[in-house]
Amino acid sequence: MKQRHKTNEHIRSRFPLSSKYDIDWMIENDMGPNALWLTEELCKSMILKPGMRVLDMGCGRAISSIFLAKEFSVQVWATDLWIKASDNWKRIKESGMEGSVFPIHAEAHNLPFAEEFFDAILSIDSYHYYGTSDMYLRYFIKYLKPSGYLGIIVPGLMKEITGKVPDHLLKPRGGGNPFWDNSECWSFHTPAWWKHHLSKTTLVDIKVLDPITDGWKLWLYWEEIKNRKGFTKYPDESKALRNDKGRYLGLVRVLAQKK
Ligand SMILES: C[S@@+](CC[C@H](N)C(=O)[O-])C[C@H]1O[C@@H](n2cnc3c(N)ncnc32)[C@H](O)[C@@H]1O
Repeated sequence: MKQRHKTNEHIRSRFPLSSKYDIDWMIENDMGPNALWLTEELCKSMILKPGMRVLDMGCGRAISSIFLAKEFSVQVWATDLWIKASDNWKRIKESGMEGSVFPIHAEAHNLPFAEEFFDAILSIDSYHYYGTSDMYLRYFIKYLKPSGYLGIIVPGLMKEITGKVPDHLLKPRGGGNPFWDNSECWSFHTPAWWKHHLSKTTLVDIKVLDPITDGWKLWLYWEEIKNRKGFTKYPDESKALRNDKGRYLGLVRVLAQKK
């Protein structure tokens, strides 16, 4: 899994752990802004100790789960809905991590775990799909032990869109549809929105809630890498990100501790 293609120096110095992994492997298993970069970013503010039980919620193709197990020697329950557990199991075995990454196929509102089982929960580019309901955190947090940490990174907004969606987000992208697709994008919110949304429950203490540094640039940079390599599985988001220049789009990070 050693890296065969060089990324820029700024990526290598910001993400030294992720930079050890093969870019082609990341692209093959890509489902959004680079999952390893975002996991590494989150882990800079999250304490993971060897042997901890970690839930990687909405893990997609489980590359973040493999990364967590390899780099932090934790046990990871790689849980996802769209990707079958058997698909992830294949990838986990290929990476040699079958002793510490366990694939689970589950819907986020019907999780097959014991309450207070996990020492930490992470969710990369996923929580916005199921976690924007006012009732969700109360359900979800019961799987985390008291004082455990919940870390989230989601695509988000630097200012809320309350009226008309800005024109540059409605322009067609590769594949024909606009970036602002009238479904998923309405679950994008600002750090202030997420702070209120999570803290009003009084179930967690918010430790960090911010837009990650140069989030839109990282997102764009990853789109450009995929474009250069001819990866066309998902619509190209680079045009919208380039036009937006971080005015609206970015990546929002949450670190919260269960009370
Ligand atoms: C954009 S993908 C990101 C996947 C991965 N974390 C990554 O960054 O590559 C969003 C993931 O959220 C998961 N997801 C969305 N809704 C879900 C739900 N209701 N229950 C469980 N997982 C869900 C999907 O299965 C999908 O893999």
